[in-house]
Amino acid sequence: MKTIFSGIQPSGSLTLGNYLGALKHFVDLQADHNCYFCIVDEHAITVPQDRLKLRNNIRSLAALYLAVGIDPNQSTLFIQSEVPAHTQLGWIMQTISYIGELERMTQFKDKSSGKETVSSALLTYPPLMTADILLYNTDVVPVGEDQKQHLELTKTLAQRFNNKYNDIFTIPEISVPKVGARIMSLQEPTRKMSKSDENQKASIFILDEPKQIEKKIKSAVTDSEGIVRFDKENKPGISNLLTIHASCTGESIESLENKYEHVGYGVFKQETADVLIDLLAPIQKRHNELIQSPELDDILDHGADKAAVKANKTLAKAKKAMGLGRVKKKK
Ligand code: AQP
Repeated sequence: MKTIFSGIQPSGSLTLGNYLGALKHFVDLQADHNCYFCIVDEHAITVPQDRLKLRNNIRSLAALYLAVGIDPNQSTLFIQSEVPAHTQLGWIMQTISYIGELERMTQFKDKSSGKETVSSALLTYPPLMTADILLYNTDVVPVGEDQKQHLELTKTLAQRFNNKYNDIFTIPEISVPKVGARIMSLQEPTRKMSKSDENQKASIFILDEPKQIEKKIKSAVTDSEGIVRFDKENKPGISNLLTIHASCTGESIESLENKYEHVGYGVFKQETADVLIDLLAPIQKRHNELIQSPELDDILDHGADKAAVKANKTLAKAKKAMGLGRVKKKK
């Protein structure tokens, strides 16, 4: 059985982009894969976070994983900072990363641009992400398109370590969904939808109320042509709404273009909002039941214990390969 690892940052309330690009696919994968799903809180602190909000976001993200259908009896769900092997191997991976290759990462450039001070951890985020993945001998990493560049670097670093020290890491494959891999901002449809976008109207959050969803979809930026047609370059707003609609219902973009051919944007937007509201309602209900439950703590405790066993074994191999620490004598 192949192993899957995927992480999501609790850096804000989760967006529809996080759901369609990542979470939704995890549920299908868990039946025939050995899955590790992680709340990567140590990645979230690479940019400033409010302590209490971060804590709430961690819990809410854990509840969301379960609410969308992650089964703790099939998959391991845990919080990154509760398994110290992540930062330990992250440090090791930093030692084999070059500053130049880290500076070339688009996410680093985007998140540091225009900022007076930037944490060094924002630069060294990819070696930590590499550690997250390699600790579990991961075969496949399902991600949205924005993470492809980090994943390519993960493969390079794993290969570099194997060549330099010992062949201990599995080189992971990247899996990007065919539709929904890049959901765009509703207000600036040439930028991706992000949970940390300051403009609240730009993103649909999984936990948004029906009225908010309707309002945001209705005020989504489109164009003046008035024809529901997929054309990413010339009609990025409508193309984004078509992608969202198609990803939520499973219908093809082509069949949606035919369905809405003779109606204006108003009807298309209203029906897209309705589809979203229906999709998110049961997830929100389950999230709200789980968020304060002791069951959630039990699942996370068990997940951290299980993940640590596997992670510590891999970490020990990497340390040994590099000559760190002592060789323990058998008593
Ligand atoms: N707009 C998106 N469309 C499709 N997939 C997306 N993902 C993120 N945004 C979109 C996918 O969601 C997973 C978790 O992402 P993350 O939390 O690790 O960080 P991110 O990619 O940086 O996501 P955000 O929402 O943009 O967070 P912030 O604002 O904190 O940077 C990944 O699989 C990602 O591809």
